[in-house]
Amino acid sequence: MSFSIEAKIRDSIAICGTILRKKGLNYVKKKIQIAIDGPAGAGKSTIAKIAAEKLGYTYIDTGAMYRALTLKALRQSIDLSSEDQVTALLKESTIELKPSENGQLVFLDGENVSNEIRSNEVTSNVSSVAAHASMREIMVELQFEMAVKGGVIMDGRDIGTAVLPDAELKIFMSATVEERARRRFEDNQKRGIESSFESLKEEIALRDKKDSERKASPLVQAEDAIFVDTTSMNIEQAAEAILKLASERMA
Ligand code: DC
Repeated sequence: MSFSIEAKIRDSIAICGTILRKKGLNYVKKKIQIAIDGPAGAGKSTIAKIAAEKLGYTYIDTGAMYRALTLKALRQSIDLSSEDQVTALLKESTIELKPSENGQLVFLDGENVSNEIRSNEVTSNVSSVAAHASMREIMVELQFEMAVKGGVIMDGRDIGTAVLPDAELKIFMSATVEERARRRFEDNQKRGIESSFESLKEEIALRDKKDSERKASPLVQAEDAIFVDTTSMNIEQAAEAILKLASERMA
């Protein structure tokens, strides 16, 4: 008896859903996983943050986790080229990402290192740390656990290929090296950080090369990812493009 009542309720919900969809109203939205990969400075984090806020999703910046580990390795003068030492260091570390009013905060062993992980020293060494396969296996596991319930936008280099291979929406975001360097330069100027456009361009090109040529989960576009070139887009246009694609996948 109760089974047939449940079945009737289910049928009624399904009929309502069909009517709403026919009217073009998608009230029932799935909480999906959105993977955004691409090279440094393509605008991934800025755009992912805006899109996550509009969708009520959690934004997860995986690069921040590699940066936190790099900071610890530098502080302890660990040999960054040693896979064993870097992996052992991660095993004895706690890296947490916590949302706050001022964006995502990064904690390393309980210490707020959100600013330190953006230093030039960390930026120029993070690709060497991120290259180690056994360390990445642990990072990928941690990141997968963070995203398992859906309702997330995760950005990085290997999200669509290694962390969330079943993500409902995969984006590969890029822009020319010149444009990416220009954005970093303007960003630095706003923050009062002195930098030269030419050296930023060189640093970005070098990091692209290291991230794309490493053996472990190199930066590549997943076969089922959509390529978004942000060279001639502003932030709002790029965020709008992502939201449109997300809305199609959530329906
Ligand atoms: O996104 P970002 O610039 O903060 O990333 C810092 C570095 O971390 C980047 O040079 C490569 C590495 N990284 C990675 O290997 N895999 C990820 N999923 C994210 C970042």
